[in-house]
Amino acid sequence: MTQQAVLGPFTEAAIFLVAVVSPDGENGVRELLADVPGLRRSVGFRIPEGELSCVAGIGSDLWGRIFPGGPRPAQLHPFIPLAGDRHTAVATPGDLLFHIRAHRLDLCFELAQRLTARLAGLGRVIDEVHGFRSFDERDLLGFVDGTENPEGEEASSAVTIGVEDPAFAGGSYVIVQKYLHDLTAWDGLAVEHQELIVGRTKLSDIELPDDVKPSNSHVALNTIVDENGEEREIVRFNMPFGRVSEAEFGTYFIGYASDPDVIEQMLRNMFLGSPRGNYDRILDFSTAVTGTLFFVPSLELLEGLAEPEPDTSAAEGAIAGAEGAAANGLEPDADNDDGSLGIGGLKGVST
Ligand code: HEM
Repeated sequence: MTQQAVLGPFTEAAIFLVAVVSPDGENGVRELLADVPGLRRSVGFRIPEGELSCVAGIGSDLWGRIFPGGPRPAQLHPFIPLAGDRHTAVATPGDLLFHIRAHRLDLCFELAQRLTARLAGLGRVIDEVHGFRSFDERDLLGFVDGTENPEGEEASSAVTIGVEDPAFAGGSYVIVQKYLHDLTAWDGLAVEHQELIVGRTKLSDIELPDDVKPSNSHVALNTIVDENGEEREIVRFNMPFGRVSEAEFGTYFIGYASDPDVIEQMLRNMFLGSPRGNYDRILDFSTAVTGTLFFVPSLELLEGLAEPEPDTSAAEGAIAGAEGAAANGLEPDADNDDGSLGIGGLKGVST
């Protein structure tokens, strides 16, 4: 199966649209979702070097409305709000997410405009954020953000649903949170103090040594391992945004994972603390004002959404094929022009 452009390149611009779908808007929205790849091509093809991409996500509630009683991604659920002793991760509405990225804002803007026009009468955008790249990938707290993202194969396996949920293989999950910073308070801290809060040096972006890095630093609380000691990873594409006249300075957090529990464990560490009460000091200067979870279907599933039932058989077939091939000592055909996991003669076969 082909993944949507989840691992798209880091870009200079991004627009994040979160929308709700009206009662009776479901069928129209299915058609809109199926057309997202085509709309992206219509806008992006004219300026290929702009590398326009768009990832569409679907919220738990809308999925149930689109396919009542039908197949469901195993880990799809509403965002779980968290109330820590000092800080709260709020859950806010959202049926659709469009994560639009390009090297130029005009491309993002044009696609956002086309998508919003298609949404008219079916639903409405309830949150729109225009993000920009700030200097060397710094957030508005002044720290380089994104350094420890996994790369290559590691990134791909961190974000891609596989055999654990064969009907939705090639999909992903994404959590978004809009954070607003109290820059007056933050800028009042000495740089050395800020570095202890983040867990890395500010100018050179080097991780602090373990004996210096506090257990309530952002980096310490977000470095998590499974029961085998393997690091549990996500891929983040955060973007700064703001309005200077309103003293609004923010970070749009967006994290992808093959299992939302990885992001949720990080959020529990940040907001509830690990151990409890040892919360992330970055939250003393950053307030989460939104929080929503979405499922990101594979490209094939997205394009098939206009059909009455989601066609999950292609994904299952590809997984079964890959497993069969592995058992036979065959290598998956990595050069498929459709990017699928199809194996030789099984390619494209659905059950
Ligand atoms: C106010 C919002 C946030 C800001 C400004 C922020 C900023 C940063 C910065 C500057 C770093 C260090 C450089 C890097 O490796 O990227 C970092 C690391 C990281 N952040 Fe955040 N972050 C925010 C929210 C979150 C949230 C909500 C999560 C997860 C739910 C998260 C997960 C991570 C992870 C996994 C790392 C890498 C840790 C490591 O392996 O070293 N961040 N963040």
